[in-house]
Amino acid sequence: MTALHQDGQSDAIVETRHCCNPRLAVIASDIRSHALAQQLGSALLDDDQAAASACELFLAYRDGCLKLLDRQTLKKGGLTVDIDPRPGEQASYPAPKKNVLAQAVGRKSHSIVDATAGWAQDGLALFRMGYAVTCIERSPVMAALIEDGLARLAQKNWVLRRELRVPQLLVGNAIELLAGLGEKPDCIYLDPMFPAKRKSSAATRKSMALLRDLLGDDLDRQALFEAAWAATARRVVVKSPDHAEPLGGKPSESYQGTLLRYDVYLK
Ligand SMILES: C[S@@+](CC[C@H](N)C(=O)[O-])C[C@H]1O[C@@H](n2cnc3c(N)ncnc32)[C@H](O)[C@@H]1O
Repeated sequence: MTALHQDGQSDAIVETRHCCNPRLAVIASDIRSHALAQQLGSALLDDDQAAASACELFLAYRDGCLKLLDRQTLKKGGLTVDIDPRPGEQASYPAPKKNVLAQAVGRKSHSIVDATAGWAQDGLALFRMGYAVTCIERSPVMAALIEDGLARLAQKNWVLRRELRVPQLLVGNAIELLAGLGEKPDCIYLDPMFPAKRKSSAATRKSMALLRDLLGDDLDRQALFEAAWAATARRVVVKSPDHAEPLGGKPSESYQGTLLRYDVYLK
């Protein structure tokens, strides 16, 4: 496990987190690329080698961010952890807790563990609403992207001015890590990968399609729910596609989003 707290003074414990993914390589685009390739146990390639390789996915520092690339975006573009407010979200801090996500996690909750961080979009939206967020991610590739996003977030004026502590990232399997949390959080938030039913629309898209391509479905999501239930003080929230069976049986409450549902389990 690696603990990282991005508060400007990083206390990152750097260790090898082999992702052992022969389909992924790091592109030598920055002074940090070598260390990243070593940390992930991935090949380090220059642009020409990358283009000629059989790899399908790449990590590259580009435009001041760490980006995940596929072959289409190898030359230009790529996906990064977006740290800016989502479309329609108020840019003030704390953002109002008025959407279904806030209703589901509970407006009065304080501490939230996002145990399936992924692109960290839900975790960061919760952070911007003023919750104290801890993220957990087991994919070393996604963890590297999140670390990069959190480092950028820690340098934002609005974060520095208010001396906010940006989310802590724990890297490893949440099923194990949740059992070792010091204090039980008010809410544990789960958004595991369910099998896809319908063809996803354009924007969901590329980021989720790449994630699915990289990681596949989270087949241990039932065990994750059980670990979350044991580790929470008050509630577990499961985000799932609207066609999926509730992960923890009949929920105490459900909130409907667009093509998705938040099932809330209260203790
Ligand atoms: C659908 S994505 C989450 C997307 C995220 N909510 C967002 O807003 O970007 C699921 C993520 O959870 C991670 N994950 C699933 N099960 C996990 C577990 N047991 N421990 C840690 N991470 C897990 C996967 O690696 C994947 O990155």
